[in-house]
Amino acid sequence: MRVVSGIQPTGNLHLGNYLGAIKQWVAMQHQAESLFFLADLHALTVAIDPRELAANTIEMAATLVACGIDPDTAILFNQARVPAHAELCWLLQGTARMGWLNRMTQWKDKAGKNREGASVGLFTYPVLQAADVLLYQATHVPVGDDQRQHLELARDIATKFNLDFDVALFTLPEPYISPAAPRIMSLRDGSAKMSKSDPSEASRIALIDSDDVIAQKLRKAKTDAEPLPGEAAGLADRPEARNLVGIFAALAGTSVDSVLADHAGQGFGAFKPALADLAIAQLAPIRDRLTRLLDDRAAVAAILERGAERARALAAPTLLEAQRATGLQV
Ligand code: TYM
Repeated sequence: MRVVSGIQPTGNLHLGNYLGAIKQWVAMQHQAESLFFLADLHALTVAIDPRELAANTIEMAATLVACGIDPDTAILFNQARVPAHAELCWLLQGTARMGWLNRMTQWKDKAGKNREGASVGLFTYPVLQAADVLLYQATHVPVGDDQRQHLELARDIATKFNLDFDVALFTLPEPYISPAAPRIMSLRDGSAKMSKSDPSEASRIALIDSDDVIAQKLRKAKTDAEPLPGEAAGLADRPEARNLVGIFAALAGTSVDSVLADHAGQGFGAFKPALADLAIAQLAPIRDRLTRLLDDRAAVAAILERGAERARALAAPTLLEAQRATGLQV
């Protein structure tokens, strides 16, 4: 078993990233050799400010450590410091098909109507993502539900490469999607996912939000006027209510049914403060650790450097085999 996953170093982490991905990373690092990285190469596929990217990479790495990633156990690094990601990506570009990439919903969403003006990198983004996991023979890739399609593509690329070059090189990675928090939704709109790119700050809880801001965002979260039902089926047509109960369950590490068993009949006037207390109890210590870690950015940079060295060693044999398979090396 080998666990690999990444996150783009674009601004502040939010509760969706935490519950959908990072909480799983923290748990899985003790079960298998794990590699977690800041996808700084992926960040280049849209317009960026270079100074901001460098700062975000350090801040995001510190946030992962503050969330509980132990850099002595897991390998924590930034993608750009392991050149094998970009090298393997190029090899896989010969395998991936235009038609496969054209079907990616993230490409369609991000490019919108302006496909001609989108960067080439935005189109081939999922090929680099495939390289990220295939390079380490990942067996499990803990991600939110929005990354499922990209991982299916990684499996297709791996299968075709193995077949085309008649090798048993790449392991097919399994997406591991948290049953508790596959898709945390916006606090303002139960049909949109919580996202870094939503222009409304009130739509998401950032991991650096103060206690007051967390309580205020949850108080203002969109809901309905009905009391909570006794079981999950009663939330079927209530996306905002379902989201808040889901967040409660994911934070508490319990099921939606057990949250409802405790809160059935309650209105949101009572449920929201309980949710805020729970969120603050979990997020405040992360925020405090992050503040301390950012006092010494050089130490965070050193963690990434050590992680990159370990990752380079693990990546080398697979890259060499891929080069052999394609006739680039004898
Ligand atoms: P990114 O940076 O958008 O998000 C990081 C992780 O957070 C999850 N996530 C969510 N989960 C539940 N609910 C939400 N509202 C929510 N929003 C985000 C994402 O699913 C993801 O797991 N392409 C990737 C980064 C990447 C990667 C990889 C991931 C690059 N290479 C290789 C896995 C393996 C991305 O942009 O994630």
